[in-house]
Amino acid sequence: MIEKKIVYFDKPGKQNTDATLKLAVERARELGIKHLVVASSYGYTAKKALELIDGEKLIVVTYHTGFFEEGKNTMDPETEKLLKSKGVTIVRQSHVLSSVERSFTRKFGGVSRVEAVAEALRSLFGQGLKVCIEITIMAADSGAIPIEEVVAVGGTARGADTAVVIRPAHMNNFFDAEIREIICMPRFKR
Ligand SMILES: Cc1cc2nc3c(=O)[nH]c(=O)nc-3n(C[C@H](O)[C@H](O)[C@H](O)COP(=O)(O)O)c2cc1C
Repeated sequence: MIEKKIVYFDKPGKQNTDATLKLAVERARELGIKHLVVASSYGYTAKKALELIDGEKLIVVTYHTGFFEEGKNTMDPETEKLLKSKGVTIVRQSHVLSSVERSFTRKFGGVSRVEAVAEALRSLFGQGLKVCIEITIMAADSGAIPIEEVVAVGGTARGADTAVVIRPAHMNNFFDAEIREIICMPRFKR
């Protein structure tokens, strides 16, 4: 048995970014975890994480090309170049918790199983926790992380507000993923 603290933020959102990253890196070091997987759409959270790591491998998962605008990336090329020059791995691929199902839902209505799972995670545990699970699977499917405990960081639209210790899985074995620890999350989700 182990006893550990969990930090609960009053509200979700970007204002929790610094605290979330600090707690995430601290816990990774305590556990000897080498891989930090961070969601960053434009690079704000990624650059902050870069300032804190020391020997850990930073994997930044960003929106897939065309998420907002056909053929366009959210992260600008200068930011991406800077991150890569510091050894950061950028993962940009299809989002596993929406997938092509989102297109069917938009066209025909209804809801797919994968979108229902995503919505349950969002509603019950907050956007950030859903993102932590999704980006860990995306990183695993890109071969950017091994299938061993990593620390994952996600947020609510912008920045970071949730960090977990998670055992990754690939998208074809989703139920093998395990949240081993919650490091921090917003207490109120909306
Ligand atoms: C693959 C992916 C999926 C995401 N899904 C959601 C989501 O469902 N809900 C949400 O509030 N934010 C979502 N985000 C946003 C992240 O949680 C995070 O707040 C954001 O990427 C930070 O970007 P920034 O560093 O540019 O501020 C997602 C980000 C990525 C990369």
